[in-house]
Amino acid sequence: MALDKERLELRRGLTPVQVDELVELFQQQWWTKGRQKADVEKLMKHAELIFAFVDPLNEELVAFARAMTDGVYKAMIFDIIVKDTWRNTGLGRLLMDTVMTDPVLSKVKHRELYCLEDMVPFYEKWGFTANLPGLFFMRQSS
Ligand SMILES: CC(C)(COP(=O)(O)OP(=O)(O)OC[C@H]1O[C@@H](n2cnc3c(N)ncnc32)[C@H](O)[C@@H]1OP(=O)(O)O)[C@@H](O)C(=O)NCCC(=O)NCCS
Repeated sequence: MALDKERLELRRGLTPVQVDELVELFQQQWWTKGRQKADVEKLMKHAELIFAFVDPLNEELVAFARAMTDGVYKAMIFDIIVKDTWRNTGLGRLLMDTVMTDPVLSKVKHRELYCLEDMVPFYEKWGFTANLPGLFFMRQSS
Protein backbone atom coordinates (compact mmCIF):
# COMPACT_ATOMS: atom_id res chain seq x y z
CA MET A 1 0.00 0.00 0.00
CA ALA A 2 1.48 3.37 -1.05
CA LEU A 3 2.28 5.71 1.83
CA ASP A 4 0.23 8.71 0.80
CA LYS A 5 -0.22 11.09 3.72
CA GLU A 6 -3.04 12.88 1.84
CA ARG A 7 -5.39 10.09 2.83
CA LEU A 8 -4.63 10.30 6.54
CA GLU A 9 -7.28 11.62 8.92
CA LEU A 10 -6.69 13.79 11.97
CA ARG A 11 -8.44 12.37 15.01
CA ARG A 12 -8.69 14.08 18.40
CA GLY A 13 -9.05 10.86 20.40
CA LEU A 14 -8.14 7.19 20.10
CA THR A 15 -10.10 3.97 19.92
CA PRO A 16 -9.07 1.18 22.33
CA VAL A 17 -7.14 -0.53 19.50
CA GLN A 18 -5.34 2.73 18.70
CA VAL A 19 -4.42 3.08 22.39
CA ASP A 20 -2.72 -0.33 22.04
CA GLU A 21 -0.92 0.99 18.96
CA LEU A 22 0.15 4.08 20.90
CA VAL A 23 1.55 1.86 23.66
CA GLU A 24 3.49 0.03 20.91
CA LEU A 25 4.76 3.31 19.43
CA PHE A 26 5.85 4.38 22.92
CA GLN A 27 7.94 1.18 23.29
CA GLN A 28 10.06 2.31 20.33
CA GLN A 29 11.05 5.78 21.60
CA TRP A 30 13.79 6.31 24.15
CA TRP A 31 11.76 8.61 26.43
CA THR A 32 8.51 6.57 26.37
CA LYS A 33 9.92 3.03 26.39
CA GLY A 34 8.34 0.94 29.15
CA ARG A 35 5.08 2.89 29.38
CA GLN A 36 2.37 0.47 30.48
CA LYS A 37 -1.07 0.19 28.89
CA ALA A 38 -2.93 1.07 32.11
CA ASP A 39 -0.85 4.24 32.49
CA VAL A 40 -1.33 5.21 28.85
CA GLU A 41 -5.11 4.77 29.29
CA LYS A 42 -4.89 7.10 32.29
CA LEU A 43 -2.82 9.56 30.22
CA MET A 44 -5.50 9.54 27.50
CA LYS A 45 -8.22 10.21 30.07
CA HIS A 46 -6.41 13.31 31.34
CA ALA A 47 -4.96 14.48 28.02
CA GLU A 48 -6.17 17.90 26.87
CA LEU A 49 -5.21 18.14 23.21
CA ILE A 50 -4.57 15.01 21.18
CA PHE A 51 -3.33 15.00 17.59
CA ALA A 52 -3.58 11.55 16.06
CA PHE A 53 -3.16 10.80 12.38
CA VAL A 54 -4.94 7.60 11.40
CA ASP A 55 -4.82 5.68 8.12
CA PRO A 56 -8.51 5.20 7.26
CA LEU A 57 -7.65 2.16 5.13
CA ASN A 58 -6.96 0.10 8.26
CA GLU A 59 -7.62 2.57 11.13
CA GLU A 60 -3.94 2.36 12.09
CA LEU A 61 -2.45 5.10 14.26
CA VAL A 62 0.53 6.43 12.28
CA ALA A 63 1.42 9.68 14.04
CA PHE A 64 0.75 11.15 17.46
CA ALA A 65 1.35 14.28 19.50
CA ARG A 66 -0.28 15.83 22.53
CA ALA A 67 -0.29 19.21 24.24
CA MET A 68 -1.33 20.83 27.50
CA THR A 69 -2.12 24.52 27.81
CA ASP A 70 -3.58 27.23 30.04
CA GLY A 71 -5.01 28.77 26.86
CA VAL A 72 -3.23 32.11 27.35
CA TYR A 73 0.42 32.05 28.33
CA LYS A 74 1.89 28.59 27.98
CA ALA A 75 1.49 25.40 26.00
CA MET A 76 3.64 22.30 26.39
CA ILE A 77 3.89 19.87 23.50
CA PHE A 78 4.78 16.25 24.19
CA ASP A 79 5.32 12.84 22.57
CA ILE A 80 5.74 13.83 18.93
CA ILE A 81 6.02 10.52 17.11
CA VAL A 82 5.64 9.30 13.54
CA LYS A 83 5.44 5.52 13.08
CA ASP A 84 8.78 4.36 11.67
CA THR A 85 7.30 3.04 8.40
CA TRP A 86 5.84 6.50 7.71
CA ARG A 87 8.93 8.58 8.44
CA ASN A 88 10.53 10.75 5.74
CA THR A 89 7.21 11.05 3.93
CA GLY A 90 6.42 14.56 5.20
CA LEU A 91 4.14 13.26 7.95
CA GLY A 92 6.29 14.76 10.70
CA ARG A 93 5.91 18.12 8.98
CA LEU A 94 2.13 17.61 8.68
CA LEU A 95 1.92 16.65 12.36
CA MET A 96 3.90 19.72 13.47
CA ASP A 97 1.99 22.04 11.10
CA THR A 98 -1.25 20.72 12.60
CA VAL A 99 -0.09 21.24 16.17
CA MET A 100 1.29 24.72 15.44
CA THR A 101 -1.86 25.92 13.64
CA ASP A 102 -4.25 24.50 16.22
CA PRO A 103 -6.72 27.31 17.04
CA VAL A 104 -6.01 27.11 20.79
CA LEU A 105 -2.27 26.47 20.72
CA SER A 106 -1.50 29.07 18.06
CA LYS A 107 -2.94 31.88 20.24
CA VAL A 108 -0.95 31.04 23.37
CA LYS A 109 2.07 33.28 24.10
CA HIS A 110 4.69 30.49 24.37
CA ARG A 111 4.68 27.01 22.85
CA GLU A 112 7.36 24.89 24.51
CA LEU A 113 8.85 21.43 24.26
CA TYR A 114 12.01 19.67 25.20
CA CYS A 115 14.17 17.43 23.07
CA LEU A 116 17.68 16.11 22.53
CA GLU A 117 20.18 18.34 20.77
CA ASP A 118 19.95 16.46 17.46
CA MET A 119 16.25 17.39 17.15
CA VAL A 120 16.90 21.13 17.49
CA PRO A 121 17.17 21.66 13.69
CA PHE A 122 13.83 19.87 13.22
CA TYR A 123 11.96 22.13 15.65
CA GLU A 124 13.73 25.27 14.43
CA LYS A 125 11.70 24.81 11.21
CA TRP A 126 8.65 25.93 13.23
CA GLY A 127 10.41 28.80 14.95
CA PHE A 128 11.43 27.06 18.17
CA THR A 129 14.69 28.23 19.66
CA ALA A 130 17.01 26.62 22.18
CA ASN A 131 18.65 30.00 22.69
CA LEU A 132 17.16 30.77 26.10
CA PRO A 133 20.11 32.05 28.12
CA GLY A 134 19.82 31.52 31.85
CA LEU A 135 16.85 29.16 31.64
CA PHE A 136 17.19 25.63 32.97
CA PHE A 137 14.90 22.69 32.41
CA MET A 138 14.25 21.29 35.88
CA ARG A 139 12.57 18.10 37.07
CA GLN A 140 11.49 16.52 40.34
CA SER A 141 10.70 12.82 40.11
CA SER A 142 8.52 10.56 42.24
C1 LIG B 1 11.10 13.39 14.27
C2 LIG B 1 9.99 12.77 13.45
C3 LIG B 1 8.64 13.10 14.07
C4 LIG B 1 10.05 13.36 12.04
O1 LIG B 1 9.02 12.78 11.27
P1 LIG B 1 9.17 12.53 9.70
O2 LIG B 1 7.86 12.08 9.19
O3 LIG B 1 10.34 11.66 9.42
O4 LIG B 1 9.50 13.99 9.19
P2 LIG B 1 9.23 14.61 7.74
O5 LIG B 1 9.46 13.58 6.68
O6 LIG B 1 7.89 15.26 7.71
O7 LIG B 1 10.33 15.72 7.68
C5 LIG B 1 10.01 17.09 7.89
C6 LIG B 1 11.26 17.90 7.80
O8 LIG B 1 12.07 17.65 8.98
C7 LIG B 1 13.34 17.16 8.59
N1 LIG B 1 13.72 16.16 9.58
C8 LIG B 1 13.15 14.96 9.77
N2 LIG B 1 13.74 14.34 10.82
C9 LIG B 1 14.69 15.19 11.28
C10 LIG B 1 15.64 15.12 12.33
N3 LIG B 1 15.73 14.04 13.11
N4 LIG B 1 16.44 16.18 12.52
C11 LIG B 1 16.36 17.27 11.72
N5 LIG B 1 15.49 17.39 10.71
C12 LIG B 1 14.67 16.36 10.50
C13 LIG B 1 13.17 16.60 7.20
O9 LIG B 1 14.36 16.63 6.48
C14 LIG B 1 12.13 17.54 6.62
O10 LIG B 1 12.72 18.75 6.22
P3 LIG B 1 12.09 19.64 5.03
O11 LIG B 1 10.59 19.47 5.08
O12 LIG B 1 12.50 21.03 5.36
O13 LIG B 1 12.67 19.08 3.79
C15 LIG B 1 10.18 11.23 13.32
O14 LIG B 1 11.48 10.97 12.82
C16 LIG B 1 10.00 10.48 14.62
O15 LIG B 1 8.89 10.13 15.00
N6 LIG B 1 11.13 10.18 15.32
C17 LIG B 1 11.09 9.37 16.53
C18 LIG B 1 10.41 10.10 17.65
C19 LIG B 1 11.14 11.37 18.00
O16 LIG B 1 12.34 11.40 18.14
N7 LIG B 1 10.34 12.44 18.16
C20 LIG B 1 10.84 13.72 18.56
C21 LIG B 1 11.05 13.73 20.03
S1 LIG B 1 11.67 15.27 20.62
